[in-house]
Amino acid sequence: MKESVTRVEKIKIERAQRFKEKPSLDGIPFGTYFSDHMFLMDYDEGRGWHDPRVVPFANFELSPAAAVFHYAQEIFEGMKAYRSPKGDVLLFRPAENAKRLNSSAERLCIPQLPEEYFMEGLKALIGLDRDWVPSIPDTSLYIRPFIIATSAQLGVHASAQYLFAIITCPVGSYYPEGLNPVRILIESDDVRAVRGGTGYTKCGGNYAASIRAGQRAENQGYSQVLWLDGIDRRHIEEVGSMNVMFLIGGKVVTPALTGSVLPGITRKSCLDLLRDWGYEIEERALTVDELVAAAENGALGEAWGTGTAAVISPIGEITYRGSVSIIGGGKIGALTRKLYDTLTGIQWGKTEDKFAWSVKVC
Ligand code: COI
Repeated sequence: MKESVTRVEKIKIERAQRFKEKPSLDGIPFGTYFSDHMFLMDYDEGRGWHDPRVVPFANFELSPAAAVFHYAQEIFEGMKAYRSPKGDVLLFRPAENAKRLNSSAERLCIPQLPEEYFMEGLKALIGLDRDWVPSIPDTSLYIRPFIIATSAQLGVHASAQYLFAIITCPVGSYYPEGLNPVRILIESDDVRAVRGGTGYTKCGGNYAASIRAGQRAENQGYSQVLWLDGIDRRHIEEVGSMNVMFLIGGKVVTPALTGSVLPGITRKSCLDLLRDWGYEIEERALTVDELVAAAENGALGEAWGTGTAAVISPIGEITYRGSVSIIGGGKIGALTRKLYDTLTGIQWGKTEDKFAWSVKVC
């Protein structure tokens, strides 16, 4: 085993003996084909985080009693590595992901992970698997850091042991529609998260709770659901697994971060860009009645989702209790397009990065 040096503990590197063939990304489902290596690190109560290592991608061996399987003590992040025209590999605001992982960890009673391990682990893994960062337009290497509770215990308590892992996979578009506006069903029954719960964290449970409504919507020909709040089911929260924004009467309106909404890094970046472009932003409660009325009286000009996987996803149609409203003639709006072009331009190193969001890894 060869060692690379970090400011914390040395990361051990064990190279794969055989390298996998790189897949064609044409039509490959999101997140199904993984690179040659993964980063791992263990936590034991009394010892802390230890043994950072990059090893060949392989299955885990865990006790069937591991706490993650029973009580979902688990958190994750989503980020991407982009190939610039010069051939450099760039990350987008990775320190924000490290911070959010620790905010999720705090809520799920998972020990804090020193940010240096997050950053150095990413660099070591992506440095070794740099050939996996694709260079075809609109493709990237999706990165999935996660922490799972590994103690073999069925009592409902915080685990004493954890595993931090980073895996990566080359990806194209998240939605098959790409940048074509999607049809969205406003969900009136299921809720994704509630205030006081875990909605502001990236924990697997939030996504598990979202699958049924997403599946029902897909069966009716919609791409995703628009989530309403869990108390009176009137206030808009998110769309699918993304944050959501609306251009209403020339102002950008987005649900405020009140605890049940994920503080998205793409959300934050869009708001920074929009402010820089002189837009008035309203982070506030927005009711479904106000949204539908704005769609009907023409005040709703554009609507889009924001997230790491799809970046920007235009919304062309919303259905609420059987009544359909078309947004922006069902076409992508000028502001949605400008946000997509600017953000992806910065991410792929093609547009001026005035906020210094891009971080070169190798
Ligand atoms: C994102 O786009 O940020 C997501 O969370 C999607 C991911 C769960 C695949």
